[in-house]
Amino acid sequence: MKLIAPSVLSADFSQIASQIEMITDAGADLLHLDVMDGHFVPNITFGPKMVADIRKLTKLTLDVHLMISEPEKYVNEFAKAGADWISVHHEASKHLNRLVNQIKDTGAKAGVVLNPATSVDVLEEILPYADFILLMSVNPGFGGQKFITTSTAKAKKLSAMIKEQNTKTFIEMDGGIGIENIKMLSDAGVNVFVAGNAVFGSADPAETITKMKKLIA
Ligand code: DX5
Ligand code: ZN
Repeated sequence: MKLIAPSVLSADFSQIASQIEMITDAGADLLHLDVMDGHFVPNITFGPKMVADIRKLTKLTLDVHLMISEPEKYVNEFAKAGADWISVHHEASKHLNRLVNQIKDTGAKAGVVLNPATSVDVLEEILPYADFILLMSVNPGFGGQKFITTSTAKAKKLSAMIKEQNTKTFIEMDGGIGIENIKMLSDAGVNVFVAGNAVFGSADPAETITKMKKLIA
């Protein structure tokens, strides 16, 4: 499975309806929504109301990445708002197994996110429970940052762990992904590619999505 998930963080929020239509027509597979609380990460974006409003605009799978403290307090609200996938940071959760089950109980797919400095070794016990693992390839908080090159080896290591444990977990990667590195990441075992700046910051976002899809086909 190989999917492209444009991140609306880099879109123009005042034109959100037409921007979503444009990436949908270009073949985007999911819509990645970055929720930031100004506490877990040094930036603030939006909450469940925005997710509910976007839900009304699109049939695309909504991939909600929670960069917030105490995510257990909010996951049900995001699920109710229409999130199809919900991911929470390992670094923000005290009882990750309980939280992953809480997400699954809402009917959403549950993802566990690792910051760049967190080793995939911490996933050993949660891997059989998580639907997907989201590896951050930049420090979370902002779009348009430079790809952290050691993330490729990290994806390979996680791929090997998944094979060894024989789970159905898929790998998503987020941060600094574009046409120059997507093929290499796909070869390293990444299944879902988040791209904010590479899509919305390009002269022709639709063409960029088409190129990305070709590179991972
Ligand atoms: C960063 C966010 C990303 C961001 C990626 O904290 O989690 O989803 O939108 O943006 P780019 O692709 O520009 O690095
Ligand atoms: Zn994200």
